[in-house]
Parts: sequence; C-alpha cells; structure tokens
Amino acid sequence: MKEIRNEGIQNISKYGQRPELTKEFCEEAIAYILKKVDQNLETFTYKYPAPASINNVYPAIDNIEWTSSFWTGMLWLAYEVTGDMKYRKVAEIQLESYKERVEERIATGTHDLGFLYTLSSVAAYKLTNSEVAKEIGIKAADLLMERYFEKAGIIQAWGGEDDPVNGGRMIIDCCMNLPLLYWATEVTGDKKYYEAAFSHVKMAEKYIIREDASSYHTFFMDIYTGQPKYGETVQGFSDQSCWARGQAWGIYGFPLSYNYTGDSGLIDLAKKVANYYINRLPDDSIAYWDLIFTSGPEERDSSSAAIAACGLLELSKSLPLTDKDKQIYENVSMQIIKSLADQYTSKNVPESNGVLLHAVYAKPHNSGIDECNIWGDYYYFEALVRLIKDWKLFW
Ligand code: GLY
Repeated sequence: MKEIRNEGIQNISKYGQRPELTKEFCEEAIAYILKKVDQNLETFTYKYPAPASINNVYPAIDNIEWTSSFWTGMLWLAYEVTGDMKYRKVAEIQLESYKERVEERIATGTHDLGFLYTLSSVAAYKLTNSEVAKEIGIKAADLLMERYFEKAGIIQAWGGEDDPVNGGRMIIDCCMNLPLLYWATEVTGDKKYYEAAFSHVKMAEKYIIREDASSYHTFFMDIYTGQPKYGETVQGFSDQSCWARGQAWGIYGFPLSYNYTGDSGLIDLAKKVANYYINRLPDDSIAYWDLIFTSGPEERDSSSAAIAACGLLELSKSLPLTDKDKQIYENVSMQIIKSLADQYTSKNVPESNGVLLHAVYAKPHNSGIDECNIWGDYYYFEALVRLIKDWKLFW
C-alpha cells in the first residue's frame, strides 16, 4: 500500500490568523446572492442556467446538464435562510422536471446523478419531508448504482460500460456524488448503496490520490479484472499536474464519506489533500485553475475556491478540538470566502446574471474560461450559509 505524504501547512504565518469576517459581512454577501437569485427567478423557473456563462451571462437551457441542480440548490439555500416561499415554490416546480429526467432517463448517463439529485430531491426531502422527493432521490440512487462495477469497485463517471473513451474511468469529482448513495441506504435500509459508495471512495484513495497527495483528475480501471490502469486528465493542464477543482472536490468529498462511514483514514487523507491545495494558493488565496500554476497570468478558478472553502469547513468540523490544524482550516476557508466576496463577485458587472466571476470550466477544451460557473455560485452561497448558521448538510 502506497504511503501518501503529508506536506503540512507551510504558510502558518498567514493562515495561523483568523481573518476579519463578521456575521454582518457574511449577511451582506448573502444579500447580494439573494438579489441575483431574485433577478434570475423568473428566467430559471422552467429553464436552468448553463454550466458556464458566456460573457458573464448564463444562457437558459433545459434540465439536461450535470449542473442543473446547483441552481435548484441555491433556491433551497435561499428558502432556508429567508423562509420565503417564493424560492421553495420554484424549487418544487423544478422537482417535477427532475422526476421526469430520472424516469425518462434524460441525459442520465453520468455519475453526476449525485449532484443532480442531492441538491434537488434530497434537499427537498430534508427541508420539507416530501415523500415524493424521497422517492425521486431513491430512483436516482438506483440509476447511479447501474454505473457501479463490482469487480473494480468503482462507479464509472461517464458513458456506458463499452464506451471506447470512458469505459472504466473513475474521476475525483465522484467523491461528491457518493452522498446520494449513503443517503439512499439511510432511507431504505438497503446496504448496497453504502457498500458501493464506500468501495468507490477507497478506490479513489488508492488510485486517484498520488503519493504527494495531489490527485489525478481521472483514473482507468479494468472493470472486468479489477486491475488498475493509468491516470489521465480531461480538464487539467496535464496528466501529471493537479487540476485545482479536482483537488477541491477531494477536499470536500472525503470528509463527506467520513460523515457516513466513520472511517478516520478518510480524514487523514482529506488533510493531506487539503494541505497540498493550501500550499499552492497565491496571495489572495484563490487557486489558479491548475495547481501547477502559483503565479503569473493564467486564470484563477473561483469555483474551485468556493468548493474548497466548504470542504475545509467540513474537514475542520470533523477534527477534534485538540487537532492543531482545526482552526487553520477554518482560517483558510474564511480567507478564501473573504477574498471571493471582496474581489470575485459580479458586483461591478451589472449585466452579469452570475454571482462569482473568474472561474474556469475546461481550459483544455476552450470552454468557460474566465466565466461564471453555476456550481461556483452554489458553493459560495453554501460556504456563507455555513458561516452564519449551524447548517444541516444536503450532502
Ligand atoms: N464535475 C465536472 C467539473 O467539475 O467540471
């Protein structure tokens, strides 16, 4: 078994201190998000924001992307923090579309059923006790299980079993899709979902995380023999570099699996993954789109920062008071959130319908570069909500 190194946190003089981030500051940042949500509510009731903006404006599309639920999740967060039924009403209208999507299998050949149904159906169930939402969530978990290959112990990210490009491909992002499966075991009592999720996360630990605690974006397994093959990037700079958003998915995803399984090895792992990320942050704490870059003109990925901010808060929560890094992870998260609020929002770009500017969707594919990403907006909102209240996770 390979040993994954722990770099520790190198910039203690910076992150040893708690940034000035008051409740009022966070509430003001949330008020700005709510203003954007209100502006978008009508356009995005029966339509959804595209994954990335074009010139900082999200086009309206049908519920066909892996990202639709980040908008629906924002509606549930908005309902939670305001109690205003107008947000819940739209999120409930959208539930119909998620129901149709899972039942008719519309664009469901993806592991991102986890993102899609956690933030639409599980969130609805947790906040409103809706039995309909619960059933839709379970259907989605069943569909996600069709992507689980027992011999290899992984959930395949994209395409079918015989897909020439994606067969046997698992990806770091999938750590965020596993909560749907753990949740399905909780509500049905059927352990098969939990077992698949736990197997996948252990495979991610074994093969996707490298010895230096960086991550491959994707890794191939032979689904018939269970043999590991090789790592490959799709959205990062190179196969051997570390795509910033992938690392952020790991920072958040491993603690989520810990919450459901109690496997403390996942917390040790999350710390190493987090330290690797933190040690490569530039001065304003917002990562470049690939961690191979630590200065210079390359684009930042504000969405990676927002995901990491949530993940670091979750990681910190999982650590005992005696752990010297507990406070530091909170400090880094707050530093990131403050930096996003101060310098990365669309406040000075009134034509934008997004919240966070300066994200990168997929630079190697020339897609969504220096644009808003709808998941960045969602995680920024979640991070702020986490700071103002004792937030019960949708995940
Ligand atoms: N899960 C795909 C992405 O982060 O772009």
